[in-house]
Amino acid sequence: MTTIIRSVAGLRSQVRAWRAAGEVIGVVPTMGALHEGHLSLARRARAECSRVITTIFVNPKQFNNPDDLKKYPRTLENDASLLATVPVDLVFSPPVEEVYPEGFITSVSVGGVSEPLEGRMRPGHFDGVATVVTKLFGMTEASRGYFGQKDWQQLQVVLRLVADLNLPVEVVGCETVREADGLAMSSRNLQLTPEGRARAPVLYAALTHAAEEIRAGQSDRMAIREAAEKLREVGFERVEYIELRDAATLMPSDDPRRPRRMLAAAWLDGVRLIDNIPV
Ligand code: PAJ
Repeated sequence: MTTIIRSVAGLRSQVRAWRAAGEVIGVVPTMGALHEGHLSLARRARAECSRVITTIFVNPKQFNNPDDLKKYPRTLENDASLLATVPVDLVFSPPVEEVYPEGFITSVSVGGVSEPLEGRMRPGHFDGVATVVTKLFGMTEASRGYFGQKDWQQLQVVLRLVADLNLPVEVVGCETVREADGLAMSSRNLQLTPEGRARAPVLYAALTHAAEEIRAGQSDRMAIREAAEKLREVGFERVEYIELRDAATLMPSDDPRRPRRMLAAAWLDGVRLIDNIPV
């Protein structure tokens, strides 16, 4: 069974001992409800670090919808047994008061890369992410932090944060883990109806097809429009965005010589799905 620590003081005394012994600590921040995507990050950390901490904390500051926060699945027991298969050395799962005690008033806000796409659709979201990630790095004293490419913009925000604040953490971006039919793994997939679940892989398929068309010389705009039409055709209620952006800054980019990323958010069955691929 993996040790679960709930207090910052308890975590501190463990990580101090590890660091004194010269261990390299890797942290995998999560909000729980773990699946293979999360576990792949933990396994990568296991392979590259002598000590691995997984944090499980449903961070209220990054939810802009109180209902979404309340409904977020909390499955600590099951998560701990999944993590024991990796295995990780420690699970840090603090209560909200431990992370945001009375009087807490500081916020970390990353400009630029936080603003478009997810930042525009979910105001305050990335401030919440940047604040908690900064705190988790401080609490765990980790030398490496593992993040999924599934949340590409979040990964770029964390990279920017670490560079701008000189945080002594190496950020490792890990490949998106997908179901056999291409759907990116997400705890939200469980909210889809069977019909929705059957259609959901079209998101990845449409992005992949658009990227191929662009590589073959079709205009960015046309390829994106076709992808959006395809999604509506198969029953996505709403396409929030499909955009081709500079992979690091997330600013509009029509320069095919620079690394670009196609990112999308769309609603199916009342569930908001996101995905992204390199172009
Ligand atoms: P959460 O959604 O639980 O995701 C935790 C980590 O798992 C993130 O780095 C995310 O990108 C990664 N992940 C999720 N699904 C994945 C998949 N299919 N393949 C690969 N990686 C995947 O992201 C958060 O939590 C929070 O914002 C957090 C960073 C913990 C801050 O609160």
